Amino acid sequence: MYCEDVPIQTIAQKVGTPFYLYSHATLNRHFVTFNNAFDGIERLICFSAKANTNLAVLKLFANLGGGLDIVSRGELFRGLKAGISPDKIVYSGVGKRVDEIDYALYKNILMFNVESFEELELINKRAGLLKLSAPVAIRVNPDIDSKTHPYISTGLKKNKFGIDYETVIQGYKVASRLENIKVIGIDCHIGSQIIEVQPFEDALKSIKGLIDELKGLKIEIRYLDMGGGLGITYDDESPPHPGEYARPIVKALKSTHLQLILEPGRVIAGNAGILVTRVLYRKSSKDKEFVVADAGMNDLMRPTLYNAFHAIKPVVKTKKRSIIADIVGPICETSDFLAVNREISNVKTGDLLAVMSAGAYGFTMSSNYCSRPRVAEVMVKDDRFYVVRARQEYADLIAGESIPPFLENQL
Ligand code: LLP
Repeated sequence: MYCEDVPIQTIAQKVGTPFYLYSHATLNRHFVTFNNAFDGIERLICFSAKANTNLAVLKLFANLGGGLDIVSRGELFRGLKAGISPDKIVYSGVGKRVDEIDYALYKNILMFNVESFEELELINKRAGLLKLSAPVAIRVNPDIDSKTHPYISTGLKKNKFGIDYETVIQGYKVASRLENIKVIGIDCHIGSQIIEVQPFEDALKSIKGLIDELKGLKIEIRYLDMGGGLGITYDDESPPHPGEYARPIVKALKSTHLQLILEPGRVIAGNAGILVTRVLYRKSSKDKEFVVADAGMNDLMRPTLYNAFHAIKPVVKTKKRSIIADIVGPICETSDFLAVNREISNVKTGDLLAVMSAGAYGFTMSSNYCSRPRVAEVMVKDDRFYVVRARQEYADLIAGESIPPFLENQL
């Protein structure tokens, strides 16, 4: 298996395993294809940082004119370090802290996607103290079923996100009266890994209705942020092509002066990256085969957390018969698996495996559980590869920890 023109085996020999591997060409193509799908209308593609925050990945999008969708001060810090212009950064999230709001105000981001009345009041207060004006959109919860995994559905009334459809107009009335708030947009994000166009169309329709209603109240909306959420193929899903997803949006916005913002994450990065892991052991019990890999749930959380499917392929193709096995990691939890009852070629100890579709929500959701260093991240461009994040050292694991004096020198 190759990534662009580089054999994956070569990278594994040099970098060790496990590691995340990203293709520059694929990231580039996905971003450009997504962006071009909206030709004909004004738009800003704010890549959703939570999907992949590696500086090299963010820099690549910055070079393509991309913005960023952030949910924390840390993501803002990274985005700015990667050279993303602050006036292309939108800030979502239900729990923005005071220091995070101040930092974003001070950096002059494009807008805050506000998710509650209390947040609105706080942003107004902080902007006043800093003698600044806060550009704001209100995140609407349109109560739309995006038919995705319940953990990643966000646009239902029972979800914690946004202000519900019925009260959002009230939110805008309050916002427009607040001295240090500048209402400029409206926002929604209905979920992730959505594989139909209809839920997006429904959301667009209800938001457009709100924009008209606001116009009647003399509240002008300039930015329409439709969030992210377009799904990808992990197994046998057939999500819409970005062109199909874009068509109704372009049609609806063409004759308006609204500027579109989109916050795609997975659709751009998901299938531009893989996780490479090595088989440590094979073992079998009475009626079960196990492949023990050196990557576990701390490195790739998705199978454990969402029961998510990731295709797993041997890096070197073999003609070996296939087996049905659980592909598990080294962690002391039964939930530590990459795949369960999966058909895979009869791999042996030392073989390399590629866990596919891991470019989004892979590294960013990894942890140091069981004191396992974070793995390396590598980007390939043409026939060269670059370690874009070094594997953590063991010393990194205890950085910042200390033993208080009362525990020292005790017998
Ligand atoms: N905008 C907002 C406000 C979001 O909350 C999200 C994702 C996105 C954009 C990007 O959505 P995307 O285009 O990637 O679907 N950890 C989960 C996914 C959680 C998504 C959370 N929000 C997973 O591994 O499937």
